[in-house]
Amino acid sequence: MKKITEARFFKEFCATADNMYRLGWDERNGGNISLMLEEADADEYVKGRKTERLIPLGFDARELAGKYFMVTGTGKYFKNVKAEPEINTGIFRISADGQNAELLWGYEDGGKFTSELPAHLMSHIQRLKVDPQNRVVMHTHPTNLLAMTYVHELDTDAFTHTLWQMSTECIVVFPDGVEVLPWMLCGTNEIGEATAEKMRSARAVVWALHGLYGAGRTLDEAFGLVETVEKASQVYMLTAGLPRVNTITDEQLKMLADAFGVKYREGILKV
Ligand code: 13P
Ligand code: ZN
Repeated sequence: MKKITEARFFKEFCATADNMYRLGWDERNGGNISLMLEEADADEYVKGRKTERLIPLGFDARELAGKYFMVTGTGKYFKNVKAEPEINTGIFRISADGQNAELLWGYEDGGKFTSELPAHLMSHIQRLKVDPQNRVVMHTHPTNLLAMTYVHELDTDAFTHTLWQMSTECIVVFPDGVEVLPWMLCGTNEIGEATAEKMRSARAVVWALHGLYGAGRTLDEAFGLVETVEKASQVYMLTAGLPRVNTITDEQLKMLADAFGVKYREGILKV
């Protein structure tokens, strides 16, 4: 069995957490990442390991039975992931009955997966139905996006339209827009179910007054999505109190979508 710490997926996971911290998105224990391992990676680095512990999931994840995940730990700081991944992250298999995580590596101080695991795994289940290649779900607290949820109406179409207008690349990077959830109690199955439901129609889900969820096929793709939403939110926050002299029109947004061949969310552009 090869050393997990030398696997490319592992290094990328730690580097992603590090970047998210560096960008100020993940203060203290804020944020969490889940990566579903490729079969080849699971074979090479994980499968032969003995189960260290069984950790109850608290919900039914049968649709992911036998799948392997690397997930950040609850209460753990992204700041520390790179230096001590064996404490701050863990790798587990979903048990055949979908009730437990079979811990194979990590959480070495007796810890466990993020409190937001319901939202992560339920989102994986939904995204896989839309895109069988989806592997990543990440939750984070990007500063400007969070600020924007205090001053912008929390309507999915209005929020998406504003973000699309904030930078030319937006409609190309997230043509399905962002879904917006009202404030809800975090760490619960209820917010998990609501997030997963929204993940059917978009890869980005805003948790008002809390943060953002992003999904993608790779860590880079999910990170890039969050990065682009956050950049657009920053432009919004930098300009929100100023008179708007110029804007990207709906016709121009449509031109962009047509030029890049993306199918954008319906009902938002008045063209
Ligand atoms: P965890 O420390 O359990 O991952 O929670 C962090 C967080 O962002 C809650 O929404
Ligand atoms: Zn959070």
